[in-house]
Amino acid sequence: MTAALLDIRDVHIGIIRRHGSDEIVRGVSISVAPGEKLGIVGESGSGKTLTMLSVLRLLASPPLGVVKGEILLDGEDLARVDAKRLRAVRGGEIAMVYQDPMSSLNPLMHVGKQIEETLKAHGSSPLVASDRTREVLGQVGLADPERVRTSFPHQLSGGMIQRVMIAMALATSPRVLIADEPTTALDVTIQRQILELVTSLQAETGMAVLWVTHDLGVVASLVDNVVVMYAGRVVEKATTTQLFARPTHPYTKALLQSLPGTGSSHRSALHQIGGTPPDPTRLGPGCPFRVRCPYAEEKCAQAEPELIDRGEGSFAACWKDPSQW
Ligand SMILES: Nc1ncnc2c1ncn2[C@@H]1O[C@H](COP(=O)(O)OP(=O)(O)OP(=O)(O)O)[C@@H](O)[C@H]1O
Ligand code: SF4
Ligand SMILES: [Mg+2]
Repeated sequence: MTAALLDIRDVHIGIIRRHGSDEIVRGVSISVAPGEKLGIVGESGSGKTLTMLSVLRLLASPPLGVVKGEILLDGEDLARVDAKRLRAVRGGEIAMVYQDPMSSLNPLMHVGKQIEETLKAHGSSPLVASDRTREVLGQVGLADPERVRTSFPHQLSGGMIQRVMIAMALATSPRVLIADEPTTALDVTIQRQILELVTSLQAETGMAVLWVTHDLGVVASLVDNVVVMYAGRVVEKATTTQLFARPTHPYTKALLQSLPGTGSSHRSALHQIGGTPPDPTRLGPGCPFRVRCPYAEEKCAQAEPELIDRGEGSFAACWKDPSQW
């Protein structure tokens, strides 16, 4: 097994109170190796964005904070690095494309200029920054990169903005790219095209990619491994092939059944199960999926399962072996 490049270990994130904290992310471990593409999938509120923001120490603090856990970049504990090193890591070694791209662009500055500023902040000379900006805007498949370079954000479509954000993230040749699916639900086709593009660029650099999405279908053929999150926890980890062929958590199975073209008649399987995801700060004992789970039994109400090895590289936080479903 290749050593992890980014290793998120047992991270707990909570709303910090005077006495203790209300945990939202509850012991998440996710790691990626160089050159690996990892999909992180889960419904709204499952803790995907908070986990990713914690990597770069960008949680809205207060009230949020990492209560426990470690985040290692090539063995270096990111919680302990000084401000100078943190600036070098942010946008340099680990680049993030944020869920709300408009909020990370300056509306009053040409987008090309903003990419140049990022490069200069990471040590490029003005000339190199300008050349590299032209190069990356070309690489991300924009039809007229020169026009885009001298455009203001509001002059571009959602899909173009997303490409600009990817260009900005890739400009510094990061070792890790974290892309959080935009809230303005981008066309699935555009998401797939962008992920394909990242894949082709990644082949040259060995960058590790974490791709956060609601839609399992988007990552289906494009990532090596998938992590499924539910109620602030990882409930399944598997290779993409295994996950699709043999899901080992009932929630993953439901997500798969809700995809079009997977033998299920329509996309509302999760609604057929009924209910919505629970508030992670108000969980009782037991498995947080039990109220929606068709296989729940007595034990499921008593204790929350940890990830259990289900073979073939699959791990699931479920008491029941898939053969018992
Ligand atoms: N600043 C905050 N203060 C309190 N709670 C917060 C804060 N930010 C997020 N949360 C809560 O934490 C939970 C997880 O949020 P997070 O943004 O990580 O979810 P997500 O999986 O990224 O969802 P989405 O798919 O909608 O982006 C949500 O229930 C959210 O309401
Ligand atoms: S532990 Fe029980 S309730 Fe939870 S997913 Fe498994 S079978 Fe369903
Ligand atoms: Mg999010």
